[in-house]
Amino acid sequence: MNILITGGAGFIGSSLCNHLSIDNHITIIDDLSMGKLENIDINDNVTFINGSVTDKILMQRVIKDVEFEYIFHLAAIASVADSVERPIETHQVNFESVLNLLELVRKFNPKLKRLIFASSAAVYGDEPTLPKNEESVIRPLTPYAIDKFAAERYVLAYNNLYNIPTSAVRFFNVYGPNQNPNSPYSGVISIITNQFAKKKSGKEAKFKVFGDGEQSRDFVYIADVIAALVLIMEHNNAKGKVFNVGTGKFISINELLKTFEKLTSYSIPIEYEIEREGDIKNSFADITKLKSLDYTPLFSIETGLKEYLEIKKII
Ligand code: NAD
Ligand code: UD1
Repeated sequence: MNILITGGAGFIGSSLCNHLSIDNHITIIDDLSMGKLENIDINDNVTFINGSVTDKILMQRVIKDVEFEYIFHLAAIASVADSVERPIETHQVNFESVLNLLELVRKFNPKLKRLIFASSAAVYGDEPTLPKNEESVIRPLTPYAIDKFAAERYVLAYNNLYNIPTSAVRFFNVYGPNQNPNSPYSGVISIITNQFAKKKSGKEAKFKVFGDGEQSRDFVYIADVIAALVLIMEHNNAKGKVFNVGTGKFISINELLKTFEKLTSYSIPIEYEIEREGDIKNSFADITKLKSLDYTPLFSIETGLKEYLEIKKII
């Protein structure tokens, strides 16, 4: 099958590509702003296009040229904090590219079996009821979360209004190999892992916690996320629906740091700084809806982190 993965050189996109390219032809569009070519197992089944999803001419050419059966729209500026700094630039990628892609599919891609859009748990914002299910109150706090929610609604509306088969996923906090740690806006587990790797190689290491470290997240390992995406792609009754993708468990940043110390037997200096603007205090998923597609998360934070640290040769 022909599959398009936008953002396919990034963390989740490359992991998905490496899984699906065994049996399918994958086209990737990525501007390499965060993603890396080394993440992708390049073979005859993979076509890589270095370009932006905001480039309407490029996007039209790609959608007209290939009859895709599946499209995963993962390209985004994934950092909540970056969207607070640069709301206009992030809006173009995180919202406008989605609407443009939907229109292109409506015009030129009648054989599409499914478009799956990466939304986010950030849409729930700070309303305190936990866990979050798909019907929970939506209170987006940042440009990132507002764009994800608006884009997700468009994606589902195209299913209902124009019969274009779509699904959306609200990822909670995903971690694992291929996550780029090199920006201050990178995912927290990749940043901490990078510091523990420095410590292991005898370099100076430290980690800054924003706030008191008691904020909590539902960290989900990449292998479970790929399994969830494949289930949603395969199930016809996932059409027109949005799914939380998490584990249903949570851990604070302070406890997370202790888990790193336990697994590696090292510790690194920790500094506490003022909390980030727009940061959510607590977040974790109710995954009942995803479980109805036979999903069971296989990794706890301890087992997922252990596998990740082993792959990174830190333990
Ligand atoms: P990532 O930054 O590793 O991947 C995003 C990819 O998109 C990168 O390779 C980047 O180079 C690319 N990209 C950015 N702007 C682009 C543009 N204009 N044109 C083409 N490519 C562009 O992030 P990720 O963690 O793999 O996230 C994938 C998707 O999942 C994103 O939509 C993100 O918002 C969403 N998401 C991620 C998480 C998480 O915990 N990682 C949680 C919720 C939602
Ligand atoms: C993450 C994702 C976002 C996604 C959301 C869904 C990334 C970069 N962000 O946002 O795309 O939509 O989950 O739940 O993948 N922190 C520190 N020190 C650091 C970095 C972070 O203390 O150096 C703290 C943050 O303030 C936050 C927590 O760790 O409280 C998690 O931060 P981060 O990994 O950036 O994730 P989210 O903001 O939850």
